Amino acid sequence: MKFSSVLRSSAIALQSIVSVSAVVVNPLPAPRNITWGNSGSIEISPSLSLNLGNASEIVSQAFERTWERVVDLKWYPAAIEQPLASYVTTPYRKRDVSGVVVSRINIDIEDVDIPLQLGVDESYKLDVESGSGEISIASATTWGALHALTTFQQLIIYQNGSFILEEPVSIWDAPLYPHRGIMIDSGRNFLQKKKILEQIEAMSLCKLNSLHWHIDDSQSWPIEIIKYPEMTEDAYSAREVYTQQDIKDVVAYGKVRGVRIIPEIDMPGHSRAGWQKVNPEIVSCADIFWTESAVEPAPGQLNPVNNDTYKIVQDVYDELSALFDDNIFHVGADELQETCYNFSTSVREWYAEDESRTISDLLQLWVDKTEPIFMNTPDRRLTMWEDVVMTTHARNVSKNVILQSWDVASNVKNLTSQGYDVIVSSYLHFYLDCGFSGFVTNDPRYIDVPANDDFNENNAGSWCGPYKSWQRIYDYDFTQNLTETEKSHVLGAEVCLWSEQVDSAVITQKIWPRTAALAESTWSGNKNAEGYFRTNFVSQRIFNFREYLVAIGIDASPLVPKFCLQNPHACDLYQNQTILFEYDA
Ligand SMILES: *[C@@H]1O[C@H](CO)[C@@H](O)[C@H](O)[C@H]1NC(C)=O
Ligand SMILES: *[C@@H]1O[C@H](CO)[C@@H](O)[C@H](O)[C@H]1NC(C)=O
Ligand SMILES: *[C@@H]1O[C@H](CO)[C@@H](O)[C@H](O)[C@H]1NC(C)=O
Ligand SMILES: *[C@@H]1O[C@H](CO)[C@@H](O)[C@H](O)[C@H]1NC(C)=O
Ligand SMILES: *[C@@H]1O[C@H](CO)[C@@H](O)[C@H](O)[C@H]1NC(C)=O
Ligand SMILES: *[C@@H]1O[C@H](CO)[C@@H](O)[C@H](O)[C@H]1NC(C)=O
Ligand SMILES: *[C@@H]1O[C@H](CO)[C@@H](O)[C@H](O)[C@H]1NC(C)=O
Ligand SMILES: *[C@@H]1O[C@H](CO)[C@@H](O)[C@H](O)[C@H]1NC(C)=O
Ligand SMILES: *[C@@H]1O[C@H](CO)[C@@H](O)[C@H](O)[C@H]1NC(C)=O
Repeated sequence: MKFSSVLRSSAIALQSIVSVSAVVVNPLPAPRNITWGNSGSIEISPSLSLNLGNASEIVSQAFERTWERVVDLKWYPAAIEQPLASYVTTPYRKRDVSGVVVSRINIDIEDVDIPLQLGVDESYKLDVESGSGEISIASATTWGALHALTTFQQLIIYQNGSFILEEPVSIWDAPLYPHRGIMIDSGRNFLQKKKILEQIEAMSLCKLNSLHWHIDDSQSWPIEIIKYPEMTEDAYSAREVYTQQDIKDVVAYGKVRGVRIIPEIDMPGHSRAGWQKVNPEIVSCADIFWTESAVEPAPGQLNPVNNDTYKIVQDVYDELSALFDDNIFHVGADELQETCYNFSTSVREWYAEDESRTISDLLQLWVDKTEPIFMNTPDRRLTMWEDVVMTTHARNVSKNVILQSWDVASNVKNLTSQGYDVIVSSYLHFYLDCGFSGFVTNDPRYIDVPANDDFNENNAGSWCGPYKSWQRIYDYDFTQNLTETEKSHVLGAEVCLWSEQVDSAVITQKIWPRTAALAESTWSGNKNAEGYFRTNFVSQRIFNFREYLVAIGIDASPLVPKFCLQNPHACDLYQNQTILFEYDA
């Protein structure tokens, strides 16, 4: 019995836990390079003042927010751990407070005007010196300075009436990948604006920089369009609509926290709600029962052979894209169903004009006709789901299109080897909606008869079950098997929370804190300097990060009994702290 022997050995492990008193506050994500001093704790004045070299409203406001939070929160982590010596450059040593009281933070930014876009320099240096009594941050851009502040925020603890930093510290930091994101879906269920802002706040704390907002889907159209006000008749209710001001608010809230907002209007598949109100002729198969026409209810796809489709798409796209700052617009292109179009008279006639035509030609028609519409600013770049190349096989998709890969890892190799830039969202690792069973009703597969055992016992009840735990997310090498050239085409990774069973009531618990694991693997990696998994070094910090989120009012799920949080490594499956090293790179 493998499992019971495991339980026995962890019981033995418990007896040998030594009491630890030192507080080690390591930020999440782990910085690329962190060097602790050992001259003793440094006290920071509650009236810390900012000395900003080049004026930046964004940075001075971020400093105000950060420091106010530190002072209000009086944070002291429950997660207490003496780190293994190899994990820090200088072994940690608890010392008395050195007597230095820091009262000033200097921030020098080379160019405060560089905009927040894909690939912007996000690096920073943060130095807290024992002698000078000053904290110095240096960065190339505003966005690097914001990251420095979230690191700083996580380094300070409140102890015995003082705000202290355990030791002098020197950090150099920069992300491994420019795209570190979360996808949310407000088409299946509406997400309140305040809940979207909450995700952005948590993202900024762990340096995630891209919120991919899958705004609509075939089920609902929740965005105000001035030109076609009838589209929001397909919102779930008049109260479940984003006004254009709401969208601008989300974009502005993200920007001052270094989070890009990347909109997605999923087309031509997953399209019914909203569009059908403008002209029902541009939507195919909307009235065919979904099992014959779609991957899930409700059915509907934009009709590529109807010219009115493009006029309406252009009007909606121009109006919407003007509300967002980002150069990138995600235009969907996933899961196109051939069966849906075969219910359309106009598509059948188009096929009949040339017998060699297939669904690939139909999709290519869409790609060719929409390209000039979508590329409506000089800096515009498009993202599409990989299906457009890997599944429906459009004939010719520009290499300038970023492809978001959700299926098997071999697709990432395929696409990067062709020269496409790719964002990895492997459903086997990064889909946050998995493991909650299916949502369709009148489903006989749940009846307890032998024929249904596979469905109910092998996670098939959720097409992508089981639930993806933080360790599953963290331990995934999303560039595995790629050559150096192929790797250079991986822009980063994104967890996806499809929202058939998610709304404002549960979104935060489904995203946090496990997504902090992706935040670290995309920022500084999931391996130590020797190339071994450093998961064991994250566990205490992710538990701590969860406590921090809850403390600031973001209701993240607990990952463990609090016992595990308070007794570092007492809940490890193996007492051997380097057991993961068996799985080297
Ligand atoms: C990281 O720190 C080490 C010493 O701890 C130093 O040798 C190295 O130059 C640093 N790297 C960067 C990029 O700052
Ligand atoms: C201010 O910006 C200029 C260039 O924009 C840069 O050369 C200079 O170092 C910056 N100064 C400070 C104090 O950040
Ligand atoms: C807090 O102060 C008390 C009394 O000065 C001292 O005994 C204790 O060790 C201090 N605790 C910490 C965590 O520094
Ligand atoms: C659609 O537009 C194309 C060219 O833009 C034109 O050749 C075609 O006749 C139009 N079809 C209809 C039904 O108007
Ligand atoms: C759809 O119609 C095309 C053209 O008639 C045909 O080749 C194809 O097999 C049909 N596909 C399905 C899934 O019925
Ligand atoms: C692919 O499309 C581009 C325009 O986007 C065009 O320049 C190129 O010739 C096309 N290639 C093929 C093989 O059709
Ligand atoms: C990686 O390469 C190994 C060995 O060639 C192969 O077994 C595995 O399937 C590959 N994985 C992916 C995701 O391509
Ligand atoms: C990529 O996948 C497509 C579709 O499965 C296949 O036709 C093509 O040969 C693959 N290309 C590479 C380079 O693996
Ligand atoms: C811990 O596990 C590693 C990897 O399997 C192994 O090399 C090492 O010998 C183990 N250490 C102990 C003390 O068992």
